[in-house]
Amino acid sequence: MDILLNLIGKFHPLIIHLPIGFILIGLLIEINSKKFKSPNKILKFIFLWSSITCLISVLTGFLQYQSEGLLWESIQGHFISGIITLLLSVAFYFYLNKSKPFIAIPRKVYTIGIFVNLLITGHLGGNITHGEDHLIEPLPDSVKLFLNKDSIKEEFTYKDEIDINKPVFNNLIQPILDSKCVSCHNSKKSKGKLMLNNFEVLKKGGKNGLVINYESPELSEILVRIHLPKDEKKHMPPKAKKQLTKAEINVLSHWINMGAPENTLIKDMEMSNELLSNFIQKEESFFPKIDIDTPNKNSISFLRKKGIHIAPITKSSNLLYLSSYNYHEFIEEDITELKKLKDNLVDMDLSNSSFNDEVFDILSTFTNLTRLKLNYTSVSGKGIDKLSSLKNLKKLHLINTNFNSNQIKVINSFPALEKAYLFQKNRDLSKEVTLSDQDIEKFDFGGYTIQELP
Ligand code: HEC
Repeated sequence: MDILLNLIGKFHPLIIHLPIGFILIGLLIEINSKKFKSPNKILKFIFLWSSITCLISVLTGFLQYQSEGLLWESIQGHFISGIITLLLSVAFYFYLNKSKPFIAIPRKVYTIGIFVNLLITGHLGGNITHGEDHLIEPLPDSVKLFLNKDSIKEEFTYKDEIDINKPVFNNLIQPILDSKCVSCHNSKKSKGKLMLNNFEVLKKGGKNGLVINYESPELSEILVRIHLPKDEKKHMPPKAKKQLTKAEINVLSHWINMGAPENTLIKDMEMSNELLSNFIQKEESFFPKIDIDTPNKNSISFLRKKGIHIAPITKSSNLLYLSSYNYHEFIEEDITELKKLKDNLVDMDLSNSSFNDEVFDILSTFTNLTRLKLNYTSVSGKGIDKLSSLKNLKKLHLINTNFNSNQIKVINSFPALEKAYLFQKNRDLSKEVTLSDQDIEKFDFGGYTIQELP
């Protein structure tokens, strides 16, 4: 019996198109009623069938909800508006039959009500199948920001924060599962009867038994699934969902191959630094630890619209990273908006941009600026002394610029400077200055032609 109900539930996405069709054709006839001899007769017939198919849709929807382990909170809006559509359709049928008390209510209340509810039900249903943001997904960031949608938050992060002195499962593995698996594998909605929301339930496995094979780790169901080709039905996460990154797959594989421990410290997991570097927020201590107001949203949205990349340095941080990789010609209005973010910007990559020595004047008030890249610009260094007021400026990249070696002494006196990258393709600046052995450590005169991209 369960299987049968389960199967009937699966027809919900198909069946809902019947009432949609009946209602739309009914409303179309209603609008064009003059074209028909006896529109009420036709409408009676149509809304009888719209009511019947609406009822079947509600019932199959309920069965689908029960069998697929969906959260009530996530479907309640869709369910309620579906029922209202059903009730209005039935009421309109009685109205057309001139039944009391329905006849007392104006006709438009029914028709408009049915139409609006149909739209709402359809939209909320779409949210369940395709995710909350499926409608705004294609919109540009600036519009999303305007709508103030959470969907933009994800893009705001550029690394997860992980401490290598902490147990591996909760600090490295669970965050990956949380972001890519737990939406379908949790205590309320456990697809394949598998939960992945904590270590205990993961160890229990799913409907086909354990998902970790301690004897032959590489045959673990989790690993098999994530390594299947994306088009394969059993591939996890399902094709339509956000996929695991290569580094995440490698970490999960490594963890399972090491026996899938819970409390082993991350640093004892024998993971290569290269692999871990994808997860560890090394930058955390690099940038100033300060409380700062949330950045000006309008300025961010203005600059993003132009193609400038802006993101917080870590989840929920108010400190910002900016890269003009896709936008080079800064004009007056851009600079005005940049200045509104002067306290938040700590990491700026203005490489390849149109900025010249004026940039030092502009940036002299960016008090928290910690890393500045001006590679491949025409700066010569004139006026760079204005940056000596920046108490946090640790890294300065001036590769392949017109940088004048006279200015090296000036940068050398910057209070926080750790490293300046001064490689020039056709000149060797190191030959033009004399620095003490200690100071020379701060300068890098060669070998950096390729810059890492954000
Ligand atoms: C969009 C929902 C969704 C997401 C996200 C998702 N799964 Fe699944 N998962 C399913 C469904 C549905 C099944 C049951 C059907 C099947 O066996 O393919 C399933 C089954 C499984 C099974 C088999 C359980 C068993 O015992 O049969 C494993 C293992 C699994 N998923 C692992 C994962 C992992 C690991 C992730 C994250 C990387 C993940 N899933 C993300 C929907 C999802």
